[in-house]
Amino acid sequence: MAPAQSGEADSIEALWADARTELDAVQTHEELEPLRLRWLGRRGRITLRLRGLGELDEAERPAAGAELNRLKGFISETLQMRHAELSAPVETPDIDVSLPGRAVETGGIHPCTAVMDEVEDFFAGLGYCTASGPEVEYESYNFDALNIPEDHPARTMHDTLYINAPVGRQGRQLLRTHTSPIQVRLLERQAPPVYAVSMGRTYRSDAPDATHIPMFHQIEGIVVDEGISFADLKGTIELFLRSFFGPDTEVRLRPSYFPFTEPSAEVDVRGSGGDWLEVMGCGLMHPKVLQGCGIDSARYSGFAFGMGVERLTMLRFGFADLRALISGDIDFLRQFR
Ligand code: DAH
Repeated sequence: MAPAQSGEADSIEALWADARTELDAVQTHEELEPLRLRWLGRRGRITLRLRGLGELDEAERPAAGAELNRLKGFISETLQMRHAELSAPVETPDIDVSLPGRAVETGGIHPCTAVMDEVEDFFAGLGYCTASGPEVEYESYNFDALNIPEDHPARTMHDTLYINAPVGRQGRQLLRTHTSPIQVRLLERQAPPVYAVSMGRTYRSDAPDATHIPMFHQIEGIVVDEGISFADLKGTIELFLRSFFGPDTEVRLRPSYFPFTEPSAEVDVRGSGGDWLEVMGCGLMHPKVLQGCGIDSARYSGFAFGMGVERLTMLRFGFADLRALISGDIDFLRQFR
């Protein structure tokens, strides 16, 4: 509050500074009128000073008067401005900013796709190309060319859905039961050396349970070159499995049988102290398969391997029921992003 004029008068600079401080400090409408009275009222600081001008030397009067009037103008203009500011209606937004935002749902990579991408990347690093083939396949590619003749028991294990279409030279059409027919399609097209992986959907007429679904995915690897031996197969598979499951993973090959490889093996992995778990089948390319694709099996040899993507995914992420992968349960799938 400004003191009433007593004794030595405030300098004009001090008046300007006081006025500015008080005007800046105004927060509410109610403070405006008292401020006006303090400065411009009948006993206001400016009013009193203007009245006191007569006591000054005649020479000082005009300048002091002009300066006081300038300050007076400033105060009343600023009061008007603050009045307008403080009277402006408070904007009430028609949106409730306290509500949670509308989330933009972005898609994610399915864990099986992520696994296939990783495997593809790994083998690309070894110089393999990626090949693909049709999901609706001919019997000749799915079975015959892979040394699985009509009466072979493996055909029963690979029961699937057949397509109702005219039967041609290549036999009936079916939903492919494995990715191995891609080996044949690739070797028909491309002369050795061949280093390739391929992956995609495969089908079998299995009833869904914790370890089977009728549509699943496989990854196939194939190498055909001069001088390929079982040691190349074993080294490649160990390298891959230790990259995929961790450097301390133990890898074991067990003798097995597949019509299109000779010799054949099944591959198991074991983490620290855990159980052995089967992850893939493999073997050296059967000479009959190479010859069927027009490849000189005396000059070239090769190996192949095949694995189930869902199984790799379950082992990698540690869950037990593979139906979870096709459940469409976003909360479940999101964990693996
Ligand atoms: N095609 C086989 C299956 O579906 C998996 C397989 C085994 C693929 C051995 C291969 C292989 O390439 O060498 O059961």
